[in-house]
Amino acid sequence: MTQTCPPWLLAANWKMNMDHLQTLEFIRELSILMPEKEAENSGVEMAIFPPFTSLRTAQVFSTSYQVALSLGAQDVSPHPSGAFTGEVSASMLARLGCKYVLVGHSESRKNHHETREELVGKAKNAIASQMTPILCVGEEEKGGEGMEEICSQAEEVFCDLGKEEREKVIVSYEPVWAIGSSVTASPQRISRAASALKADLFKKFGASPRILYGGSVNEGNIESLKGLGLGGFLVGRASLSPAEFTAIFRCLEKGKGLA
Ligand code: PGA
Repeated sequence: MTQTCPPWLLAANWKMNMDHLQTLEFIRELSILMPEKEAENSGVEMAIFPPFTSLRTAQVFSTSYQVALSLGAQDVSPHPSGAFTGEVSASMLARLGCKYVLVGHSESRKNHHETREELVGKAKNAIASQMTPILCVGEEEKGGEGMEEICSQAEEVFCDLGKEEREKVIVSYEPVWAIGSSVTASPQRISRAASALKADLFKKFGASPRILYGGSVNEGNIESLKGLGLGGFLVGRASLSPAEFTAIFRCLEKGKGLA
C-alpha cells in the first residue's frame, strides 16, 4: 500500500508519558483547538506516538472526536510473532491503526542496546505490515562534525533493505545532545545534516527519504526551523500540551510546504 504524505509531518513522541486517560483528555482538548476540517486542509499531518497502552484509546477517540490524527508506535519487535515476552509485533500495531513506527530512537538504542540486525528487523517488519518506519539517527557529541556518524547510522539499516523497502523509510535527524535539553541544533547544522543524509543515501542506494528533525523543538523555535528543506519534525516534551502542539501546527500551516 502506498502511503501519501502532506508536505509536513508533525510527529509527537510522547515517550513514557500519557496513560490512556490522559491520552483521551489530550484528544478531547485537541478536538476543540483543532477542528478536523481545518487539520485536513492544512498541509500538515499530525501524528501522535503514545505508549503502547494508550494506542487503542487514541485510535478509538480520535475517530469519535473527529480529530485528524495519524497514529504511530514508539518501538516494534524485530520478530514477526512468537515466544518474545514483552514485545509487540508490527502486525499488532498495524491492526491498531498505526501508520508509523519509530526505529532506533537514541533512547531505545541506549536503553535496549539495540543491534544493527534488530534495527533492520524492526524496519522490515514495519514495512511488511504496511507501516512507515521513522529511522532516527543522531550524533552523540555536540562539538564534532557528526555527519559521518549520522550517515553511517542510516547506511547500516538501508544497506539491508530492498529497493522498495528503502522508498518507505523516513529518516529523522536527532542529535543526541539536543534531545531533552534546552537547545536545538542550529539551523545551519540541521540543514547540513539533512543535505548530507540526502546526498549519501541517494549516492549509495538511490534513495530520497523524507528527512525530519527532532531535538528540543517547541513553539518558540519552530519558525526558525521551517526553511531548512525538512519534511517535518519529531517533537518530544512540547507535544505533551495540546495548546503547544497546536501552536507548532499553526506555525507550519502558515509556512505550507517544503521550504
Ligand atoms: P524533545 O524530544 O523534543 O523533548 O527534545 C525529541 C525526541 O526525543 O524525539
